[in-house]
Amino acid sequence: MDTPDLSTTYLGMQLSNPLVVSANPLGRDVESLMQMQAAGAAAVVLPSLFEEQISQESHELDFFLSHGTYSYAEALTYFPEPHRFELTPMQYLLHLQRAKAGLQIPVIASLNGVSNGGWIEYARSIENAGADALELNLYFIPTDPGLSSQAIEDEFVDVLREVKASVRIPVAVKLSPYFTNLSALAHRLDQAGADGLVLFNRFQQPDVDLEMLEIVSRPTLSPAGDEQSLRLPLCWIGILDGRIRGSLAASSGIHSAQDVLKLLMVGADVTMFASELMLNGIDRLAAVRAELVDWLVEHEYTSVRQLQGSLSQRSVTFPAAFERSHYVRAVSGGVPLGT
Ligand SMILES: Cc1cc2nc3c(=O)[nH]c(=O)nc-3n(C[C@H](O)[C@H](O)[C@H](O)COP(=O)(O)O)c2cc1C
Repeated sequence: MDTPDLSTTYLGMQLSNPLVVSANPLGRDVESLMQMQAAGAAAVVLPSLFEEQISQESHELDFFLSHGTYSYAEALTYFPEPHRFELTPMQYLLHLQRAKAGLQIPVIASLNGVSNGGWIEYARSIENAGADALELNLYFIPTDPGLSSQAIEDEFVDVLREVKASVRIPVAVKLSPYFTNLSALAHRLDQAGADGLVLFNRFQQPDVDLEMLEIVSRPTLSPAGDEQSLRLPLCWIGILDGRIRGSLAASSGIHSAQDVLKLLMVGADVTMFASELMLNGIDRLAAVRAELVDWLVEHEYTSVRQLQGSLSQRSVTFPAAFERSHYVRAVSGGVPLGT
């Protein structure tokens, strides 16, 4: 049997296979990005440039221009943790240009912000620096009890509209799973022009350091076999497949070819890797690709497209498996409903 065709389409781009690297610290280094390409990544997403970084830089510049160098140190005190970002916005653009110069695969830049404001203009600079697409990461922790869900979602849609109005490259929106009605938001973003949705971002909660007796921020990685992480995108991609116009990218808990296959079957266009590469090295991509090919050959699939969406809610005989009845069935001992 011939080698199966692994190609897929994401955000209107033809990709050689469905393995994409999502935003993570390895992407700060061009050498590592080239290693990802060599190991078989079909595209890479660069780590995010944050709204706070852009706003901080423009505030610093404003203050510097209006008050001179003498007051500059004072200006910095208005911005907490001024050195927490590794790259300035300018350095980010340079990194993007270097990545583009070194790679043949598409390079997707990432902007991370939640409020409609001047930082969005950076989307155009990112496009001008050569990005093939842009991922907009809407990461927000609402704590104000006076802020309604509707207001938050309206703001998200506005941010997307502004970004779409600034660039011609495709724009994907990366979301967390925590919305009252994710389907409704997905549809609104789709209608507002999102070229794809990335499901999901991993929320990073703070921790308590028992020695220092303080709250600390350290990232958690998803370990292999973390079913809960994997099943979130699996469930929601299965629900949204065929119901939105844009592409669907899976992110969270993807560590193996089996994980990739499950997500493709429920309708993912691409599957994204972060923790697995940070834990076990970039070369894991090559091993996952080889296992993917072996599985397809063994199960007589000639292409990835052939299995994409074959088990989403629009294809299965029991679509309610993705909904409340799945929960009822799962917690009541696996007995099929109605028996
Ligand atoms: C240390 C670390 C840094 C990350 N940085 C970003 C980022 O800059 N932008 C972004 O959109 N996602 C970022 N992510 C989220 C990942 O891209 C990914 O969506 C998430 O970790 C879930 O995938 P995983 O289970 O494969 O890690 C980061 C994740 C980790 C662990």
